[in-house]
Amino acid sequence: MEHTVEFSIKSGIPQTGRNGCLVAGVFEPRKLSTAAAALDRAAKGYLSGVVRRGDMQGKSGTTLLLHGVPNTTGRVLLVGLGRENDFREKQYREAVAAAIRALNATGADEAILHLTKLAVGRRDAAWRIAHAVTVAHECNYRFTRMKSKSEGAEPALRRLILSVDRAAGKGAAAGLAQGLAVAHGMNLAKDLGNLPPNVCTPSHLADQARELAKRYRMKVTVLERADMERLGMHTLLSVAQGSAQPPKFITLEYRGGPRKMKPVALVGKGITFDTGGISLKPGPEMDEMKFDMCGAASVLGTMKAVGEMRLPVNVVGVIPATENMPGGRATRPGDVVKSLSGQTVEILNTDAEGRLVLCDALTYVERYKPAAVIDIATLTGACVIALGHVAAGLFANDDAMAREVVAAADAAYDRVWHMPLWDDYQEQLKSNFADFANIGGRPAGAVTAACFLARFTKKYQWAHLDVAGVAWKSGKEKGATGRPVPLLTQFLVNRARKG
Ligand code: BES
Ligand code: MN
Ligand code: ZN
Repeated sequence: MEHTVEFSIKSGIPQTGRNGCLVAGVFEPRKLSTAAAALDRAAKGYLSGVVRRGDMQGKSGTTLLLHGVPNTTGRVLLVGLGRENDFREKQYREAVAAAIRALNATGADEAILHLTKLAVGRRDAAWRIAHAVTVAHECNYRFTRMKSKSEGAEPALRRLILSVDRAAGKGAAAGLAQGLAVAHGMNLAKDLGNLPPNVCTPSHLADQARELAKRYRMKVTVLERADMERLGMHTLLSVAQGSAQPPKFITLEYRGGPRKMKPVALVGKGITFDTGGISLKPGPEMDEMKFDMCGAASVLGTMKAVGEMRLPVNVVGVIPATENMPGGRATRPGDVVKSLSGQTVEILNTDAEGRLVLCDALTYVERYKPAAVIDIATLTGACVIALGHVAAGLFANDDAMAREVVAAADAAYDRVWHMPLWDDYQEQLKSNFADFANIGGRPAGAVTAACFLARFTKKYQWAHLDVAGVAWKSGKEKGATGRPVPLLTQFLVNRARKG
């Protein structure tokens, strides 16, 4: 089990207990922040002495733990913030992370974080609190469920008190609530992503949706293979037909808003393992294709956050879930199938399966008369080439919708970059044997994948997030990131405000 820290907010200059720690920032070069300067006055110049002697220069990423500081109980942790002029969102989040990591290496059971009082551009106290909470959770997240024995001792830290100015008022409490909800949603998304593909099957995703429904009073529906056949979801089924795992089409409805308010639909790609099918992927790193359900996981994580906050909005989460496996029943390159929309698709590459499950889901959501639809998918390797691991690709059939998503992404520090969706790219999907093909060749692979989806989303405002580069990390830190739960939750928080 991951160790849990309790978060609270306090104004003024709170003191810790004997086994606590006060945390304050130092700018480069050797400049105490306002909170550090206040501690310094109480300590009769002890901190300015430390800084003057050069033991804490203020470089970002550095920390210095002090014991026996006069007129403080417990410890003081100084955190380098870098140059004050360069101190923005990224530096703030990194300073909080450095503080949490340093605290975890101490025996302190409680800490008072004064970093939350630092000016971060125009961000308000609610923003600073929310981000401190999510960053702290990110530092403390461990996936240990599959280990047979626990590794090493847990950090002692139990309580984290976030210090704010008195003027912060109610906003700070709202920030704390959103930060916690987003962190819990991200943790769920990470857990589901990190689970091995023999455990996190389509059935497991359906069970998770059922649990959320029970806990947060949502309505859950799980369509089985036969239901999908009856409806005519043949592109989805063409992906599922090589797998021994039964596919599941999951819908989760949350109604927190007025009855007449149209819902926002979130559609998440739920490929619980992507071998490529008959167009088999190469061996190296194929294990990472267990993360091909991270879009679905972000939908469940966001539904959890929304449920926890009791947001006054209506949201439908939709997850087409299946494996993509080769085998005697699997789809062949060249097969032509009919989508739920009635349009026919020539499947030239069975590894372009995400769009095949999404297109039927995107047609299905028409029945909710959605105010807006966002799909989230680890859709293309090409998007990773285009944007790397920093920004998700954003595509939209409406500029106002794109701007709304960008604004939410910036506020959530869960960034996206708006990519083109011009009709000129549609030509690449031409097929001699069906209405169009499921691949558009090498050039602009992320764009042609979005263009494929755009053929199914003409009836509503729609945005597509290609999260192939940001949903998980490879290498030593291999693991799901929980993105884009922060962005999706912020989008819904903003919609709830607008009413
Ligand atoms: N799930 C993959 C996309 C992917 C690949 C994400 C690598 C992250 C890392 C997707 O189903 C896929 O295989 N896409 C193909 C599409 C191609 C066949 C047109 C790709 O990107 O290679
Ligand atoms: Mn694939
Ligand atoms: Zn895939």
